[in-house]
Amino acid sequence: MRVLITAGPTREPLDPVRFISNRSTGKMGFALAQAAEAAGHEVTLIAGPVTLPTPERVTRVDVETALEMLAAVETHLPQADVYISCAAVADWRPEVCSPVKLKKAGMDGVLKLVRNPDILKTIRPLKGNRIFVGFAAETGTPEPEAERKLREKGLDLIVANDVTAPGAGFATDTNCVTLLFPDGRREAISLRSKLEIAQEIMAKIATLR
Ligand code: CTP
Repeated sequence: MRVLITAGPTREPLDPVRFISNRSTGKMGFALAQAAEAAGHEVTLIAGPVTLPTPERVTRVDVETALEMLAAVETHLPQADVYISCAAVADWRPEVCSPVKLKKAGMDGVLKLVRNPDILKTIRPLKGNRIFVGFAAETGTPEPEAERKLREKGLDLIVANDVTAPGAGFATDTNCVTLLFPDGRREAISLRSKLEIAQEIMAKIATLR
């Protein structure tokens, strides 16, 4: 299969010095890229700003903002059989990005934000026979929110996790997740390395083809 993966955060600039972002490190998405490649798939990895090395034989496309990530996904989706949306896309961006450093004397403490597009919802009309997989990183019991996102984004599988659970969440090398399917099936994967979780997710995706 040809697998397209997004990973990491996006970074939404306010000026050449400052940005809004989130705690994603890209570890889960990069583990998925490594696992997919090892399983014999052709992998394109669209990465937000992260400090991770590119897994061997994986084609990497670096982006910074949500708008750049959307454009890269639109470019690469036609060549993909599977799209795994693992990136923590910033939902908002500053309305204006100043070309020069903003000075506090000229600011009033109010930052005007505008919504970023939802990448999964934007590309949903292009889905065709492709498998779409999403992630839901929540604080607390993730299943109800994951269920909603699975439905609203038209996904074939969503991977839910509680980022506040011990050994799970951002920057850790381990995770524990629940897989939710549109037919109501739920499968829990207990605490293990992100690479092992990625291998299980890839094996599950292969059964959806
Ligand atoms: N996602 C996306 N585009 C966005 C935001 C999220 O494609 N602008 C994708 C993520 O990559 C993930 C899924 O949607 O696969 C769920 O992301 P999440 O941030 O948990 O959900 P949101 O839709 O942002 O919902 P909420 O803010 O209500 O939690």
